[in-house]
Amino acid sequence: MTHATTIPMNDLSRALDRDKDALTRAAQSVFDSGHVVMGPQHDAFQDALAEYWGVDTVLGVASGTDALELAIRAAMPAGKSAVLTAANAGGYTSVAARRAGFRVRYADVDAVSLCVSGATVAEAMDGDVGVVVVTHLYGNVTEIDDLVREAHRVGVRVVEDWAQSIGARKPNGTTGITGDIAATSFYPTKNLGAVGDGGAVATNAADFARTLVQLRQYGWDTKYHVAVAGGTNSRLDELQAAFLNLRLPMLDSFGERRRYIVERYARAAQGGPIRVLPASGPHHVGHLAVARTGDRASVRTRLSDLGVSSDIHYPIPDHRQPGFQVPPLSLPVTELAAEEIFSLPCFPELTDDEVDAVCTAIEALK
Ligand SMILES: Cc1ncc(COP(=O)(O)O)c(C=O)c1O
Repeated sequence: MTHATTIPMNDLSRALDRDKDALTRAAQSVFDSGHVVMGPQHDAFQDALAEYWGVDTVLGVASGTDALELAIRAAMPAGKSAVLTAANAGGYTSVAARRAGFRVRYADVDAVSLCVSGATVAEAMDGDVGVVVVTHLYGNVTEIDDLVREAHRVGVRVVEDWAQSIGARKPNGTTGITGDIAATSFYPTKNLGAVGDGGAVATNAADFARTLVQLRQYGWDTKYHVAVAGGTNSRLDELQAAFLNLRLPMLDSFGERRRYIVERYARAAQGGPIRVLPASGPHHVGHLAVARTGDRASVRTRLSDLGVSSDIHYPIPDHRQPGFQVPPLSLPVTELAAEEIFSLPCFPELTDDEVDAVCTAIEALK
């Protein structure tokens, strides 16, 4: 029997409704300013996010996928031709690396973090790899100090994908990034969501910053003078920057609410057939509430009958995607996770009643 109302995985209309007046005023200020790209809102947002994130430079770009592509292009050492990454992170890095003309290799993930680790990267590394991309999955910033140290020792650069974890601290509690360049997305469902597409790259290295500035605008160092190959047009427009300036001060409270929701689900699941991955601590911003079970299909059907939506992030690992045409490869931890994981509703605007109802449904599985 299907439930009368269904708790959604996300509902963007709630955040738009909450912010409607402020967003309208922000849009009006852009219209009044006469700037539509690379104007004062854009510059202010870059500075504000750099300060918040604890990095020297943030550059706005048009999407998270563009951010990854530009970061990979800027980071790739001369003479190298491959990117090593996880196969369980939605395929965005695979798309970006392939668009940049590089081959993609896959490392398995750690069984607890479901992110690549120093050990899994070491196992998959070879001489062609010039860039390792670490995706901080589900909102959790994974520990990569050793991974970065070892990569740098052999001349490999590290790009971090913060699209799902923006707003989190590093595992040691400090702000900032550990790798050479970080990429993030402002896709509307992200913790820091725009009202359309957007993304950013971040770095503490002046030489990478200079290259990234050039790559996002046709490869120019000065107007109409192409200094670097591989440039494109990828800019964060002034309207999105204005909306993001408005929402950046709310990011911490969004993260807190998401963490609270995931922890409620984790407690409700104790002793039952599903295990909700924990999201406690400032290194986790609860982007997704991910659970594991060996009995996924029937659990999801039961939840659906109880009025709870669910989804899978992500059902098909990159090395099994027909369009990527990856030669046969075995990644046991990645493959098992892809069969067991599913995500529960988790966004800041879920009401307390809805969170209670999801917990009741989780308890009913026992
Ligand atoms: C981990 C991760 N990286 C990259 C992206 C790509 O960002 P965009 O959709 O802005 O291109 C996303 C989501 O969309 C993501 O979840």
